[in-house]
Amino acid sequence: MSEVSKGLSGIVVGDTAISTVGKAGVGLTYRGYDIHDLSEYTQFEEVAYLLIYGKLPNKIELAAYLKKLQTLRELPHNLKSVLEKIPQNTHPMDVLRTGISMLGTLEPETTGYTSAAIANRLLAITPGILLYWYHFQKQQNRIEIQTDEIYLANHFLHLLTGHTPKKEFAKTMNVSLILYAEHEFNASTFAARITTSTLADFYSAIVSGIGTLRGPLHGGANEAAMALISQFKTPLAAAQGVKKMLENKEKIMGFGHRVYRSCDPRSDVIKNYSQQLSKEAIDGDLFLISEQIEKIMRDEKNLFPNLDFYSATAYHFCGIPTDFFTPIFVMARLAGWSAHILEQRSDNRLIRPDANYIGLTPQAFIPLEQRI
Ligand code: COA
Repeated sequence: MSEVSKGLSGIVVGDTAISTVGKAGVGLTYRGYDIHDLSEYTQFEEVAYLLIYGKLPNKIELAAYLKKLQTLRELPHNLKSVLEKIPQNTHPMDVLRTGISMLGTLEPETTGYTSAAIANRLLAITPGILLYWYHFQKQQNRIEIQTDEIYLANHFLHLLTGHTPKKEFAKTMNVSLILYAEHEFNASTFAARITTSTLADFYSAIVSGIGTLRGPLHGGANEAAMALISQFKTPLAAAQGVKKMLENKEKIMGFGHRVYRSCDPRSDVIKNYSQQLSKEAIDGDLFLISEQIEKIMRDEKNLFPNLDFYSATAYHFCGIPTDFFTPIFVMARLAGWSAHILEQRSDNRLIRPDANYIGLTPQAFIPLEQRI
């Protein structure tokens, strides 16, 4: 029997030039650039360009890229028809999984349609997929997908509300898209790389990523964190409630990490935005409740908040419905997944690990009529 690392913890399964996560002295970097600089000084589209094309765009390249993404937002007619048939109570992650899969049948990956072009198309179209379905199911309203917004963060909020977003909401969205854009060999990225390693098409790899991101131990944690935080009316109730959950050995969503040991460098960045927004929000106390939960988790378990925890209230204060939180993660991580699909293709070998067999010893075959 070989020694097993459950969950592949600590196992190095490949090389990457895309990002560093939790490496001593470096922190979180995308292609060598610190996440703090990127989140403070750039637009998400610059980061997407950096991840997909390997360098930060100059002014001319960025202007052309922004223009290109704007032209790629429209939904094909047949995709709209499929979105209109998806039931109202469907989780928006399933809408994205279905919508992107449908797009793959309408605009399949062919020799004339490069992988970077598909990556850009997906970045540009995904807000429209989600919000076309949302408005149609809510009010039978077939919304216009094009807005005059240049940036994806603004475009998403505009499609959600029907008007130009407040500056501070758009800024929060932009920063959050940057923080969520890439994170090395996390579960969904690894799933996308596994699919890519079989020489499957780009859309199949992305759909693998979406399915893997959905669970609450991964991307679904931001929605689960909101459900946790919003069940408490006061910080005191939160302290008592979380202590009880820990006594019952329940997991507190939005805390802990497989790679980071003492903090998630993205958490304080988004926490700051959540705090600023809480000052103007009618239910701004949710921020104080979150801080109380953070304190209890440190005191009781020595665990720290990950990016998902304060993203929950940051999004909530921007007026975003809770079940859109993980889909927003998709909109951002499309950039990282795409970079990894391209990297896997550039030096591919089928990903196929081994397993120890722990099943029955060899058995004499029993014919059907003799089985009990
Ligand atoms: N709440 C309570 N306890 C937690 C915890 C949490 N959020 N995260 C880890 N722990 C505890 C586990 O119960 C376990 O304790 P034990 O050894 O006494 O059984 C120990 O810490 C190790 O946890 P484990 O789940 O084995 O670590 P992992 O490396 O496999 O998992 C996560 C990492 C992220 C899956 C885990 O921390 C988690 O489930 N967090 C909540 C979900 C979440 O926020 N996911 C988003 C990640 S960015």
